[in-house]
Formats: sequence, C-alpha cells, structure tokens
Amino acid sequence: MDVTVNKLCPLGAEVLGADIETLLNDEQIPAFVLDALEENGVLVFPELGFDDAQQAAFCRRLGDTVKKDQKGWSKEFPDVFNIAMDQDRKAGAYMKGTFAWHIDGMTSEVPAKATVLTGRVLPASKEEGNTEFASTYAAYDRLSDEEKERFAGLKVVHSLEVSHRRDNPNPSEEDLARLRAEPPKVQPLVWMHRTGQRSLVIGTTAAYIEGMPEEEGAELLAELLERSTKPEYVYSHEWSVGDMVIWDNRGVLHRALPYDEDSGREMHRVTIVGDEPIQ
Ligand code: OGA
Ligand code: MN
Repeated sequence: MDVTVNKLCPLGAEVLGADIETLLNDEQIPAFVLDALEENGVLVFPELGFDDAQQAAFCRRLGDTVKKDQKGWSKEFPDVFNIAMDQDRKAGAYMKGTFAWHIDGMTSEVPAKATVLTGRVLPASKEEGNTEFASTYAAYDRLSDEEKERFAGLKVVHSLEVSHRRDNPNPSEEDLARLRAEPPKVQPLVWMHRTGQRSLVIGTTAAYIEGMPEEEGAELLAELLERSTKPEYVYSHEWSVGDMVIWDNRGVLHRALPYDEDSGREMHRVTIVGDEPIQ
C-alpha cells in the first residue's frame, strides 16, 4: 500500500495514492483510514470518483452504516443519502439547517462516528457550497484553566427546534411536527473521550445550559461557538467533482457555506454509526 497523508492547515489531511481499488480491497485500509481520521479530524480524497455502490461498500468496511428507506435515500443502496436542496420545499428548509455550524446527531443517544460525503454536482460559482470544519478538541484545549474547571460539570440541552428557529422563527405546523419528532437531548458541554482527550460539544443545536438562566446559557454557548470557529481555526473545503471527504463527527464541527436552491449542488452521504455516547 503506497498511500501518503499530507496534513492540511489548521486541521485535516489529504490522502493521496489511495485509488478506488485500494480503498475497496486493501486489507490494511479500514484501520489505516480510521486512525488517520482520528488523528486529523478530516480526510480529503481528491477527485476519487466513487459511485454509490463503491461509496457504500467502502463505508461498510469502516463500520456499521445508517440505512433508511425514506425520501432522499437511495433505493438500491439504503446507506446512501442524497443531499440536494431541490427534492421538495421541506428538504430545502432542512438542508438550510446545514448552513449553521453543527455536529451531526446531537439529539440521538450516540452521535455518528463519521460522515462520508462525495461531491457529485457542484454550484457553478466557486464561492458557494464549500464545506467547512473546525476542531472541537482544539477548541477545548484553547480554553483557560479557569474555564476548563468551570465547564467540567455543565450540561447542555440540544434542540432541533431551537436550531431551526434561529433562521426561521415561524416554522410551519409540518416543520414543527418533524422537528419535535426528535425531542431535545441533554449532553455534557465537555466530552471526555475514551482516548482521554476532551472536546467541546456545541453548535447550532446547543440551545441552553441546565441550571443557568436561558439567556445567559445561550450567550455563553454562542461565545464558545464563535471562539471555536474563528477563520484561522477553520479548514474550508472547496469541492471538485468526485472528491470524497470524511469527517470525525466526534471531534469536529462542520457547516456548508450557503448555496443557491437552484445551484444543483448534490452530495452523496453515508453515515458511520457511532459507538461512543457523550460522557
Ligand atoms: C451533512 C452536512 C454539509 C454539506 O451532510 O451532515 O452537514 O456541505 N453537509 O453539504
Ligand atoms: Mn451535518
């Protein structure tokens, strides 16, 4: 296996020399990719060119994948979800939620371990639709000792409804029903990982802090998010068609830079099931 990992700044790495054949068949690849992911937070495979069958097969080598039989999910490969704005208006509203910094699966029991995107159709304008990443391990490490102590026991309520209302204060009944189908979930502000590392658990779903006046908690969460995602801490991926990007959903925040509803942008996503509850 002749694969090179080139670090990107300030986080992430580009993986070169891993072609489709290697990713699908090499016995060392799954452990190699998972280790590189944990070390770098984000892995970029430039212009790899996976189709759905190949993306699903590769992801199944990394772990269990989320599979669904719902609108937007591939019938043939139920682990492949098509991220596109124009499926219908509802999907559009949902996709706009990805424009805010977030961690996937904050209202679920165990958040996803990793998310794998391939770029299929890109907006004509290069200014639109980058995917951006910021490390929540680094964000924790930059806190002062006093803050680390103060935040140690804090618990945060994550809510899809609060997140949605930031952009759309008057959701439709239909949107509300969908958002409330996944009730709010309390998560620790600081995740003590099995590796011994700590990370901040923040993002647009972080609504308020238990035992603190709502406004005060919301202000602190907004400040932490702002500090964590300053431009100098962000890797912004400008897509080429065929790129595959994997992020370690346990240790990075991500967002899409806004793109036009009619841009045609289409990403195919597979989610690797998590095995580490936040504690
Ligand atoms: C996601 C997501 C960002 C993008 O798939 O979870 O947030 O750039 N996607 O489409
Ligand atoms: Mn996401």
